[in-house]
Amino acid sequence: MHLSRILFPVLLVLALVACGGDGSTPAGPTDPARASHNAGRDCLQCHNFTLAGTVYRDDGSTYPGAVVRITSQAEDGGEVLVNVTTDASGNFYTSTPVGWDDGLYTDVQGTGVLRSMGTSVPSGACNSCHAGADRIHAD
Ligand code: HEC
Ligand code: HEC
Repeated sequence: MHLSRILFPVLLVLALVACGGDGSTPAGPTDPARASHNAGRDCLQCHNFTLAGTVYRDDGSTYPGAVVRITSQAEDGGEVLVNVTTDASGNFYTSTPVGWDDGLYTDVQGTGVLRSMGTSVPSGACNSCHAGADRIHAD
């Protein structure tokens, strides 16, 4: 047998482990009682979550216990398709299938007002756009 036929699967497994795309990553949804890592980074670079990200307070600290939802219509409208609560690190993640092509909407709520994203959400890589000064904030 060619060495490459043995090596290739081994390398593939190593690559998946290095990226967290293996069975050691939980499928979600977020466990609000736990902490997690890499707050603020684009989780989907390494994980196969359908959506994930981090919620912040206006003072720049992370926001545990905020609720992130995906809705079928804008501004709190239609059906609620996903409802996850941020964990002790302010992170949220889930592997629930989400049909981004349907033009879905998202909102976030802490203890204050509900903040809705005005445009439809193109993907669940929330922190890929919400980085630097453009973090997801909750009141
Ligand atoms: C650079 C790659 C990388 C990024 C970015 C990343 N992760 Fe991970 N993650 C991993 C790896 C690898 C593991 C498995 C090993 C471990 O537990 O550290 C893991 C494990 C986890 C786990 C299970 C273990 C635990 O700590 O509870 C969760 C939950 C998790 N990641 C959530 C997230 C979230 C949420 C984000 C974004 C805010 C994120 N990860 C960003 C690579 C990454
Ligand atoms: C392609 C880039 C992009 C992605 C991906 C994205 N957003 Fe946004 N988001 C924006 C932009 C730009 C705005 C500001 C304009 C608007 O509201 O449409 C915004 C606004 C928001 C707001 C309102 C901000 C406020 O403070 O009132 C929330 C909440 C939000 N996004 C949450 C999310 C969540 C949760 C996800 C992942 C499910 C996500 N966004 C994914 C670009 C993105």
